[in-house]
Amino acid sequence: MNPRDLLDQLLHPYESFTALRTEFGPVSYNERGKFWEVFGYDDVLELASDYETFSSDGSPFAEYPEEMTKGQSVLTTDPPRHRQLRSLVSQAFTPRAIASMAPRIAEITNDLLDQVTRQGKMDVIADFSYPLPVIVIAEMLGVPSEDRARFKHWSDQMVVSEYEDLSRDNVEEYNKRVRTIMRQTLDELYDYFRQVLAERRLRPQHDLVSALLAAQIEGESLFEQGILAFCSLLLVAGNITTTNLIGNALLCFDEHPEVMEQLHARPELIPQAIEEVLRYRPPALLVGRYATRPVEIHGCKISTGESIIGWLASANFDPAQFPDPQRFDIGRAPNRHLGFGHGIHFCLGAPLARLETKIALSILLERFEHIRRERLQPIETIRSVFIMGPRHLPVTFQVR
Ligand code: HEM
Repeated sequence: MNPRDLLDQLLHPYESFTALRTEFGPVSYNERGKFWEVFGYDDVLELASDYETFSSDGSPFAEYPEEMTKGQSVLTTDPPRHRQLRSLVSQAFTPRAIASMAPRIAEITNDLLDQVTRQGKMDVIADFSYPLPVIVIAEMLGVPSEDRARFKHWSDQMVVSEYEDLSRDNVEEYNKRVRTIMRQTLDELYDYFRQVLAERRLRPQHDLVSALLAAQIEGESLFEQGILAFCSLLLVAGNITTTNLIGNALLCFDEHPEVMEQLHARPELIPQAIEEVLRYRPPALLVGRYATRPVEIHGCKISTGESIIGWLASANFDPAQFPDPQRFDIGRAPNRHLGFGHGIHFCLGAPLARLETKIALSILLERFEHIRRERLQPIETIRSVFIMGPRHLPVTFQVR
């Protein structure tokens, strides 16, 4: 995948992800990457749902850093461990806990917009959609939001392959470099959070780290490695995705000025517009699993331990599930997109991401009008094979 293909995906998601499905689908083996790929809605749904056949735990099969695999993070475990971990960490994500964050999210949103109001223009990413979720998660975890430049660096290192060309010409070399970078990043992240944990043990606060230290389920508390893994996951998984959801939403609205007008007039439609953005320009493009037994999909024989990628972005354009998939239609109902995954690993942070994005877009549209992308500046995409969004999104606007 080279950066031009990535830009094409961002600018023409329907064409790009439909082409993947029609050219390679329904199942194909990626010789260079040495993994299988599935593209259709039903197959991706099955991959995400059948955790007995398709495991999220790569540790027996893949050479990733131990912390990412060894039964410590919800994302990389299967039941029963997954169930235990998920119920421990979901205590912080109850609907009440999330709803109670709304006033603070609105306050941060207004503060960020105050800083750009006079200039009549901003880079949506740098000035708005990046700082918002980082500040929210930093406050949730109880770590200083001034450390956000470091958070950004760590998130980028984990998911955004800025460090090299993404071509798969030399996959082994590429994988080796990715692993080295992940190793370094995790060491830094864990050192950082180890210090935070030590402080909270001495002086508990009203924050997520203190709650995780105190949390117990079935008599079991989260061991230090588990908390470190979860905090690092939140910092990485929760930030760049939400940044991109806001960025991708504005890109969609800019392409459809009639939708922007409609949302100005009827802000109550913003939540359903967000769902359509999650279908049409999903920030997370794929999920990965490992076959736990020999399995056959559409006649293709997959062996135990082989890795399988499910393309959420292609599934979201499957015409068998979404009539007129090429249409960006905020009235689409039902809209069972796979933007947050599916099954037991369905995104834990979805309610928070939805709330942040709803508040961000509502306040933005309430305060500013004639929000237009600056056409003279070319769009750049972030360079990642599994996350999609603009790297910069310069816009001009007028104050309402
Ligand atoms: C899982 C997408 C925001 C925390 C997932 C998965 C997807 C996803 C597709 C499923 C992965 C899989 O099945 O292997 C997104 C998108 C977001 C977003 C598109 C924003 C628009 C967040 C936020 C948080 C978060 C804000 C936390 C603050 C998690 C966690 C998991 C997860 C902990 C693992 C759940 C489990 O394995 O049980 N996310 N996410 N995400 N997400 Fe998100």
